[in-house]
Amino acid sequence: MLGNFQYCNPTKLYFGEQSLTFLKEELQKYGPKVQLSYGRDSIKKNGIYDQVMELLKEAGKTVFEDPGVMPNPTVEKLYEGCKIARENEVDLILAVGGGSVCDYAKAVSVSAYCEEDPWEKYYERMEEVDNRIIPVGCVLTMVGTGSEMNGGSVITNPERKRKIGHVFGENVFPKFSILNPVFTYTLPKYQMVAGIYDIFNHITEQYFSGEDDNTSDYVMEGLMKSLIHSSRIAVADPMDYEARSNIMWTATWALNTMVEQGKTTDWMVHMIGQSVGAYTDATHGMTLAAVSMAYYRYICPYGLQKFVRFAENVWGVQTEGKSKEQIAKEGLASMENWMREIGLVMNLRELGVTEEMIEGIAEGTFVMDGGYKILSHEEIVDILRKSM
Ligand code: NZQ
Ligand code: ZN
Repeated sequence: MLGNFQYCNPTKLYFGEQSLTFLKEELQKYGPKVQLSYGRDSIKKNGIYDQVMELLKEAGKTVFEDPGVMPNPTVEKLYEGCKIARENEVDLILAVGGGSVCDYAKAVSVSAYCEEDPWEKYYERMEEVDNRIIPVGCVLTMVGTGSEMNGGSVITNPERKRKIGHVFGENVFPKFSILNPVFTYTLPKYQMVAGIYDIFNHITEQYFSGEDDNTSDYVMEGLMKSLIHSSRIAVADPMDYEARSNIMWTATWALNTMVEQGKTTDWMVHMIGQSVGAYTDATHGMTLAAVSMAYYRYICPYGLQKFVRFAENVWGVQTEGKSKEQIAKEGLASMENWMREIGLVMNLRELGVTEEMIEGIAEGTFVMDGGYKILSHEEIVDILRKSM
């Protein structure tokens, strides 16, 4: 049965090849000072920086540049961004980049006027925001996280070896996001497929929970099928607009809070993957891929019926004359074959994990209780060992 919920998503999306032109319209809603946050050199190389700067200039904005947001943004970078925002009293933070830049912009948005250390307040203690929030807008260049239409913000504290995500409320969601699939064409294949798996795993994290008849599960099966189909086309031809636009839209729907409504949701692959990220700084989607097969094979007996449904409805496994266990096993084998086919990293060693790190990674894994099995420390260690 669907649980009780309230649902609101306040982010306005502009999707398509011409979507950036609407930035000008959005900029008119905010004051004159814009903090332009972006990553390293990708937006300068592919021309997105110039296009955005031109529109900012036309709109008469004073721009405070905030470059160098790294993948897996750090708490040190967050403090730096807060300083820029506060000292210049910016009216809008414009994030141009992938999930890291969008997450970082939300972190700066809630932290610039926070009187305590934001890392402690928002990430370690997960407290609500009770200070001034600076509005955020996004121009997305990398697809996967769904950060363009949610309140998620993941920050890494390398010193403490902790990578923590805070899911903020509607007041922190981006006010608008611009999604042009063409902007993602220049992504290296490694990042493109990491993003594709991030999307897939966002869906499975929500799908593999509960045993009820829930509309969201049917929606998620459709999203998974579309993603698998488009991923194969995009891997063969990264410039296929139809495939890239479908992937972009699926990413948004996978984690814009709609399909999670009324579900308990799992999120353990993400919790383990984030802890791997804290130790290795590896690409987010790859940390998920590396631990997924060991995790899903381990929890399969606890949620058998759903794994059977997954095999049948997502992977088209023939069921006649087979036991439930056999069907579920074949579904997971199909998933693994697809993951290998699109070129994901399937083990932790390749991401730089060593035997010595395993205890610490397990220790740093936050244990959630919404999936089919609440994992013990030993079980997490075991999953990590099987993922090496
Ligand atoms: O730094 P630049 O030069 O911009 O290069 C980036 C970066 O190296 C590059 N890139 C982005 N767009 C490009 C491009 N290269 C060429 N052409 C383009 N158009 O791609 C690299 C990765 O970018 P990043 O933003 O780090 O990737 P992603 O979007 O996967 O974001 C990862 C972060 O999001 C968090 C992750 O934990 C990680 O910190 N997540 C956020 C979530 C949320 N807000 O809900 C949920 C996710 O599960 C995830 O945890
Ligand atoms: Zn993710």
